[in-house]
Amino acid sequence: MTKDLTQLDILTALEPVAEANLNRHLSMAKEWHPHDYVPWGEGRNFAAMGGIDWEPGQSKLNEVAKAAMITNLLTEDNLPSYHREIAANFSQDGAWGTWVGRWTAEENRHGIVMRDYLVVTRGVDPVALEQARMIHMTQGAHAPADWGGFLVNVAYVTFQELATRVSHRNTGRVCDDPIADRMLQRIATDENLHMIFYRTLCGAALDLVPDQAMPAITEVLTNFEMPGAGMPNWRRNGVLMAKHGIYDLRQHLDEVVRPVLKQWNIFGRTDFGPRGEAAREELGAFLEKLEADVVRFEEQRDRMLARERQLAERRAVPVG
Ligand SMILES: [Fe+2]
Ligand SMILES: [Fe+2]
Repeated sequence: MTKDLTQLDILTALEPVAEANLNRHLSMAKEWHPHDYVPWGEGRNFAAMGGIDWEPGQSKLNEVAKAAMITNLLTEDNLPSYHREIAANFSQDGAWGTWVGRWTAEENRHGIVMRDYLVVTRGVDPVALEQARMIHMTQGAHAPADWGGFLVNVAYVTFQELATRVSHRNTGRVCDDPIADRMLQRIATDENLHMIFYRTLCGAALDLVPDQAMPAITEVLTNFEMPGAGMPNWRRNGVLMAKHGIYDLRQHLDEVVRPVLKQWNIFGRTDFGPRGEAAREELGAFLEKLEADVVRFEEQRDRMLARERQLAERRAVPVG
């Protein structure tokens, strides 16, 4: 039996792939500026500067859009936590180090533009937003305690970047504001490029050490939680987002999990030994169960939405 490669062996072997994909990323990424995505003319002072403080009636966003914006922004705000994980598990040298710095700088832009937009347009309560940010950042990112190492981290961020792309994109659609939609599309384009970098590197790790990478992928997918887990009002906001198709179980399975697994040819590979094979089987069984859960979730959601429609119609009938 061949010996496992160490983390340093893996990072060293994959350095040329990291370098080629860093260069690819830099050639594809377009420079953009948060200030170009914010309607500054709508802004006005708050009470501390002689204006008026936020009131619910000032927001033009519906409840779903508010929940999704807050969840997505707090996730972006938690960047120091994610940076810490990535910086600790990827090398700080050469192309790896350059990637970590560049990725962090790009992610920071997402939080900047979303907060500027929400504060200027008075889309959400800025005091509640700030309080939630303090709580969420103080807690740090919510990842299983035993997650560590390059393989688990690169697998996790592959799925997370794709999940945030889906979530930002769908949030843009429910905002009912072309400015917000354009901003969130811009962010989603970044997330897609990030996903491609991580997916390529994780794919290269699979080719290099299939029996070490496969268990990491299974571990990540069987424990996957959206980064919002644990933030204030996560249950309420998460349910609203799932109910209205911002990020739900069907999207998680069909738009995030399956396309990546297909790209890596997980179920067609012939290079696994017993360990990789066992992890692949575990993942296969997990996906079957997830598919059944998705069907149940969709049925429940359809019933719930139909009931709500009925209630709304009944209320709309004039009395007397
Ligand atoms: Fe982001
Ligand atoms: Fe990203």
